[in-house]
Amino acid sequence: MSLNSAEFRRAMGCFATGVTIITVDLDGEVHGMTANAFSSVSLDPPLLLVCVDRSASTHAHLHARKRFGISVLGEDQRAISEFYANPARTHERAESEAGARFDRTSHGTPVLRGSLAYLECCLHSVEQAGDHSIFIAEVEDVMVRDGDPLIFFRGKYRKFGNEVE
Ligand SMILES: Cc1cc2nc3c(=O)[nH]c(=O)nc-3n(C[C@H](O)[C@H](O)[C@H](O)COP(=O)(O)O)c2cc1C
Repeated sequence: MSLNSAEFRRAMGCFATGVTIITVDLDGEVHGMTANAFSSVSLDPPLLLVCVDRSASTHAHLHARKRFGISVLGEDQRAISEFYANPARTHERAESEAGARFDRTSHGTPVLRGSLAYLECCLHSVEQAGDHSIFIAEVEDVMVRDGDPLIFFRGKYRKFGNEVE
């Protein structure tokens, strides 16, 4: 069976996911990247994984900093997902273009304001897998708040089954 990447993406797009922003502190500046290749791995110890394209700038930042945050987006944060998926974004425009504002944890990791959940991550190990790397991290702290999630399904943003307008 020969499979092209469009077919693979189409099939994987049937698996509805939430949307996260990976955040890294770069000498006081917030670097963020939209990611949905995210999963829990282990309960004891608490481990999660995120898969990052080896050509993404975030890939190098995660290797260098070894600490990052995962903010899970709420249904009203679509603009933030789009902003942090745009390779041409700049940190200075995050608030004016997408309404993204950040607080800091005691470790200095950026936390997206208004997100449904935040996980403070310390890098555990990295596995090479094709054109991506699997970053496995230990979760040191979490924050959770009420609200509904932003959903990504078949290449479109949704809220609980309805496409976001
Ligand atoms: C909904 C959505 C989910 C994404 N998930 C991932 C992902 O899990 N891993 C990844 O490497 N890129 C993912 N991307 C693409 C990156 O966000 C995009 O390539 C980004 O510009 C990379 O930024 P960087 O080069 O600054 O790291 C996703 C994009 C969207 C819109």
